[in-house]
Amino acid sequence: SEKKIEVIRNKIISIENYPKDGIVFRDILPILNDYTAMSYVLDVFEEHYKQITFTKIVGTEARGFLFGVPLAQRLNIGFVPARKKGKLPPPVISETYNLEYGTDTIEIQADALNSNDNVLIIDDLLATGGTVNATYNLIKALGANVEHAGFLINLPALGGEFLLNKNNLQTFNIFNF
Ligand code: PRP
Ligand code: MG
Repeated sequence: SEKKIEVIRNKIISIENYPKDGIVFRDILPILNDYTAMSYVLDVFEEHYKQITFTKIVGTEARGFLFGVPLAQRLNIGFVPARKKGKLPPPVISETYNLEYGTDTIEIQADALNSNDNVLIIDDLLATGGTVNATYNLIKALGANVEHAGFLINLPALGGEFLLNKNNLQTFNIFNF
């Protein structure tokens, strides 16, 4: 509802020129500090996704964990972490993706998903889409189905939504900034 969206919005703090000049950083951690705002985030995602039968949520380290784990509990399903390189015991599968400067690598445990799974990806923020596109590739590589990704915030100017939609991943964003 509009009221819930407004309560959540008031807990997203914008910090100008952080971490670099010209960047507006959106701090979502105050949502977690507030029981009601966090409950409303889960309500909005649950309401949006309740008609679809998912078997797992995949969340990306680190901030994707913050919303992915509690939402998986709401949807009565399990959670699978996509972690930055070197954090998960083998066997893992890896995907390298581009950042503004250089590259990063994420990994999922190879036995965490299979062809019986229908996965929902959750992350806090969609910017260039590099992180979630790499996560999507890992999920597909394990043979699971994945058609949906949900975000608290989308930054449309950075083109991530276009990239994901082009790859047949449907997106849902609580906010577009
Ligand atoms: C941030 C954010 C998303 C990603 C979005 O994560 O939490 O995961 O960037 O950017 P993209 O769409 O351009 O890939 P970050 O890598 O800063 O790490 P964190 O979640 O551990 O804070
Ligand atoms: Mg992140």
